[in-house]
Amino acid sequence: MKALNYGSLNIDFVYNVEHFVRSGETISSQNMAIFAGGKGLNQSVALAKSGIDTWHAGNIGEDGEFLAEILQKAGAHTDFITRLPGRNGHAIIQKQPNGQNCILLYGGSNRQNTKIQVDEVLSHFEKGDYLILQNEINEISYIMERAHEKGMIIVLNPSPMDEKIFTYPLEYVDYFLLNEIEAKDLTGFCYSVGEVRCIETDELLDAVCSHFPKSKVVLTLGEYGSIYKDEKQKIHQPIVKVPVIDTTAAGDTFTGFFIGSIAKGLSPKEAMQIAAKASAIAVSRQGAAPSIPELNEVYDFGR
Ligand code: RIB
Repeated sequence: MKALNYGSLNIDFVYNVEHFVRSGETISSQNMAIFAGGKGLNQSVALAKSGIDTWHAGNIGEDGEFLAEILQKAGAHTDFITRLPGRNGHAIIQKQPNGQNCILLYGGSNRQNTKIQVDEVLSHFEKGDYLILQNEINEISYIMERAHEKGMIIVLNPSPMDEKIFTYPLEYVDYFLLNEIEAKDLTGFCYSVGEVRCIETDELLDAVCSHFPKSKVVLTLGEYGSIYKDEKQKIHQPIVKVPVIDTTAAGDTFTGFFIGSIAKGLSPKEAMQIAAKASAIAVSRQGAAPSIPELNEVYDFGR
């Protein structure tokens, strides 16, 4: 069994700011750092570190060679990364002192996938292999259709959420990993936060499951942890509390370790526990890909 993550590779330009820049405002950042990132790359690093055989497919531009090196160092195969002329995809990330961020994306090489490339990559995978997707590349519908024909297990993290998601063959998705806003957008569910939060969260989860009755769902709830649901069980996983340094890639770390653990044959409960610990370690560190822990760090965490 192999895991193919068809996804973005970004150069993250991270600026530490007192507060996010407002409309019409000009502010100075306290410093700037460059990290490897992209939801695709981050999830591949986490998948590889969780211990499954991970293949990353995608494109890098002329300035992105170090991204392939970082994936290789993490243990992912990079044979299906194509070098293209022009600029790599990148992200401009503002980070506040409380660790929260806001992100502006430039697609660049991430949006130049072709159907020919997709066919070539998928010819190396078979029934029972995992396909992991986010929403930062082009040709996602085509990738899903071809992967479904082959009998691959399809995982979708519909992030960043936009209207293109509704054009994808979502009925083919075996696992959704999504946050409350993505769940609400996907289902059209009217959700207001307040005292009845727990009841509404359950309703939201039920709405996702009834929209996609064949899918297993992981709903992430920020400080309230996450919930897994399939046809037989519902599991609530609280967060592991740590001092928050940088939340970038916390969700990607969760996704990679959760799916990696499931693919290794662990139960959903065990996979949720491992993913929660891995993402706690990630938020306690700076950067996207560099914050993702090794598997032994995850096992040792909190002992
Ligand atoms: O999920 C975090 C990632 O989102 C960052 O690494 C950035 O590149 C954006 O894709």
